[in-house]
Amino acid sequence: MIDLKSFSFFSILPTREVEKIKKTCRIQKYTSGTPVYEEGEELRDLIFLIEGEISVVKKHGGKKKTLYTLDPGDIYGEVETLNGTNSLASLVGYQEFQVMFIPKEALLRLIGLYPNFAREIREMYSRHASILLEQGLSKAPFGQIVTFFNVKGGAGKSVISANTAVLLARKWKKRVVVVDLNLSFGDQAILFGVPNDKNIYELSRERPPLKPEKIESFLTVHRPSGVRILLPPPLPELAEKIKPEFVEQIIDLLRANYDFVIIDTNNQLTDMEIGIINMSDTVFLIMTMEMTFVKNTKVLLDLLQRMKIPREKVKVILNRAFKALGLEPSRVETSLRYAISHFIPSEGDIVIPSVNIGVPFVMQHLEGSAILLSMEKICQRLVGEEPDKGTWNMFSLIREVFGL
Ligand SMILES: Nc1ncnc2c1ncn2[C@@H]1O[C@H](COP(=O)(O)OP(=O)(O)OP(=O)(O)O)[C@@H](O)[C@H]1O
Ligand SMILES: [Mg+2]
Repeated sequence: MIDLKSFSFFSILPTREVEKIKKTCRIQKYTSGTPVYEEGEELRDLIFLIEGEISVVKKHGGKKKTLYTLDPGDIYGEVETLNGTNSLASLVGYQEFQVMFIPKEALLRLIGLYPNFAREIREMYSRHASILLEQGLSKAPFGQIVTFFNVKGGAGKSVISANTAVLLARKWKKRVVVVDLNLSFGDQAILFGVPNDKNIYELSRERPPLKPEKIESFLTVHRPSGVRILLPPPLPELAEKIKPEFVEQIIDLLRANYDFVIIDTNNQLTDMEIGIINMSDTVFLIMTMEMTFVKNTKVLLDLLQRMKIPREKVKVILNRAFKALGLEPSRVETSLRYAISHFIPSEGDIVIPSVNIGVPFVMQHLEGSAILLSMEKICQRLVGEEPDKGTWNMFSLIREVFGL
């Protein structure tokens, strides 16, 4: 008799769920050396190893490399399930080994139902995703979470996140969803020119479990681009009803169906934002060329470093960059002691009317304009067309943006 509850993976779940899994999932014994999955094959189930050992192997220029091994109690497949890809590696078992196959749908259901379980899966995902995806088939992993953040308001988080989403959807044909986490005073409905009758508050009132199809039915579609938007509650006071664990579950489930989950945030650093930053593949810190922004962004960068957020995922965007503002971009970078990854020029004549009519400016005919080029650069970096140059030479960037 297998005691699933003795494995930490199942110990988080209520006994009746574990019993259900035991009854419905296929369990199979294999002899040493048997392959369980081939790289590139469709992965319909999550693999849970009950006994024996499994090597996770990847092919590289004709050679095979073992990335890591699974011990009893370990799982394989959460990265593919959440990213919607075929198997990123081959699995070969050693010794007499025994495997349980948990269907993808069952995993998504458990993620939707139990926040602690969702958190556990995400931690495994973070440990495995970089190993599997870095070595991997695709340079641009699916289901990227991209967060636009700063603790000071008015930087352009909402405008830039909405336009990034539209450009990724229209020019790169990506499946994109925007989550407006400015829960009290979100602007995404205005920026996209859509009604806000479907929103996260209505979704939160639905009976659990939280399923991908249910989330989908509460998304607002921006028809001209195909971008989906999860809008905030209709009244500011309802924001407190939305809990961080609920938001994290939603994002986990969205990531399985979309190429990009774009998150617009509020100007604070509560458990909600900390959770989101931890989950994100890229965090764009947006700032403008004012000393107050430089100071706050520096404080924030130091804090993120103390929180052990990997430096390579935090990118600074200098918005409304202009030469004659009494603060040279080069000084901003020196004060921050951090490379500025992107510049977006100040174009009030383009941005403000687009906000007022509810049509993202990247949908207008702006071919060749500096602001469109700067937005395209951000997207190219996200889809992996442009290598991440890390600490880019400041002046080549300025030349690029201002055409100097
Ligand atoms: N590149 C730009 N050129 C000109 N105006 C801009 C630019 N980027 C943003 N703006 C303007 O700056 C203002 C603030 O932008 P936005 O609302 O996106 O900032 P935010 O960071 O989301 O602010 P909040 O913290 O209040 O949510 C808006 O009026 C917008 O039109
Ligand atoms: Mg905003």
